[in-house]
Amino acid sequence: MYEDRIRLATLMDKVMTADRAAALFSDGMTVGMSGFTRAGDAKALPLALVERARQAPLHLTLLTGASLGNDSDGLMANAGVVARRMPFQADAALRRKINTGEVMFIDQHLSETAEQLRSGDLKAVDIAVIEAVAITEDGSIIPTMSVGNTASFAQQAAQVIIEINLAAPLALEGFHDIYVPHARPEREPIPLTSPLQRIGATAIAIDPARIAAIVITDSADSPSNALPPDTETDAIARHVVAFLEGEVAAGRMGPQLLPLQAGIGTIANAVLHGLSASSFRDMTMYSEVLQDSAIALLDSGHLAVASASSITLSAATHERFIANLEQYRDRIVLRPQEISNHPEIVRRLGIIALNTALEFDIYGNVNSTHVGGTHMMNGIGGSGDFARNGQLSIFVSKSVAKDGAISSVVPFAAHVDHTEHDVDVLVTEWGLADLRGLAPRERAPLIIEQCAHPDYRPQLRAYVEQALAGGGQTPHVLEQALAWHARYKREGTMLVK
Ligand code: COA
Repeated sequence: MYEDRIRLATLMDKVMTADRAAALFSDGMTVGMSGFTRAGDAKALPLALVERARQAPLHLTLLTGASLGNDSDGLMANAGVVARRMPFQADAALRRKINTGEVMFIDQHLSETAEQLRSGDLKAVDIAVIEAVAITEDGSIIPTMSVGNTASFAQQAAQVIIEINLAAPLALEGFHDIYVPHARPEREPIPLTSPLQRIGATAIAIDPARIAAIVITDSADSPSNALPPDTETDAIARHVVAFLEGEVAAGRMGPQLLPLQAGIGTIANAVLHGLSASSFRDMTMYSEVLQDSAIALLDSGHLAVASASSITLSAATHERFIANLEQYRDRIVLRPQEISNHPEIVRRLGIIALNTALEFDIYGNVNSTHVGGTHMMNGIGGSGDFARNGQLSIFVSKSVAKDGAISSVVPFAAHVDHTEHDVDVLVTEWGLADLRGLAPRERAPLIIEQCAHPDYRPQLRAYVEQALAGGGQTPHVLEQALAWHARYKREGTMLVK
């Protein structure tokens, strides 16, 4: 039954199969799809496009909110459908195509894509494909578990294809707050001063005449693939909690802290879980993704309210969340990603930004994206939006990867996403380095002694000693700076044997 979900009667004759809708696409088009960290992605059109590409060449520029679920990114990449991709992905098959150079990946700050579309810096979206709970009487679109860049795609696209997902409960209506900034110059400030505040509409307004097709689906989002906490992530969480307790004791924030942002993935999710063992109450989140940990903190009362652009949960938590939607209605808001991640708001609210590093160097430069300095992992996501503009920018990481063969603390980050200027605190399972107010020469020993794995500390100390002999504001031995990465490639370990 989908009739109660298409409330504008004139749209009923737009209902068609995904295969028929796929015929609207042609080679070279720019396509904007809903979907953000596996939540709220279109379920049928990606598969139909894979089929369509078997009949005639179809190479698309694909924009989304963030990563898609249901292996859609990988399936489309393997079928050659995705020629260019932005602004984020987290799919093993697509990652391979990016790293072989078959897919051109533009790794963007997540707040920025909508702005670049609006200003014409990016080619306009030809077709938007949007998952929805329902279409209202005036043709507005009610999104599902994410908003992402959907509002911008829908407003700009020449044609809009809507997937009505019967598995998404109608009760999701009302969770969204759609606000799209005005054009520049002389744009008004975004009138948002607290995390739960509503400043927009509950649905995305578009001219219904641009709705070219409606496809009916009935399948859930892919569950989160974050792993449960372990000994190391528990230790990282304890360091973060102790640090924040110190901030409260020093009077820099109240016991409810400042609004929290937590990045994607296993480690950030686990660290947030650790806050349930803290004495903080009535915390708020102003983040881009809510993972299981956020729902657990809402349930336990540690967290009062949460704002984000998507909700990505494990299967069990998803089931519980959907069954009890009413108890979250007044506590969760879903926003476009340019609002959830907006530098103006992140700075205004004074966010505590908690993101994960692949590696960081002895001066505090952080690599979140490039394995070995060359190969894309996922992308910068929103970490830069928050790290650059938050009140406190915390990066967490396990001290080693690949059973100790890789040190996450290195002399020189092989790729830099977050510069030393945007990083306040570094944390591993061994300890926490508070870099605020410290010069590079003061940071290095702190980072080494607090954060590096003990096996790697002698090598790091030796590097610093040699670097200091050469002098400088940020001393380095340039010939040696990337020797650790080269050694790993050559010998399979960064450790000097
Ligand atoms: N070099 C090479 N590989 C490394 C590494 C390093 N220095 N550090 C970690 N890894 C590997 C791990 O071994 C693991 O590999 P596996 O998948 O083969 O097991 C993988 O990276 C993921 O690491 P994991 O420890 O499971 O952490 P995670 O799930 O928390 O992900 C990031 C960590 C950095 C990949 C993830 O947080 C990310 O993509 N961040 C960038 C985007 C972002 O911060 N967004 C925030 C706002 S949404």
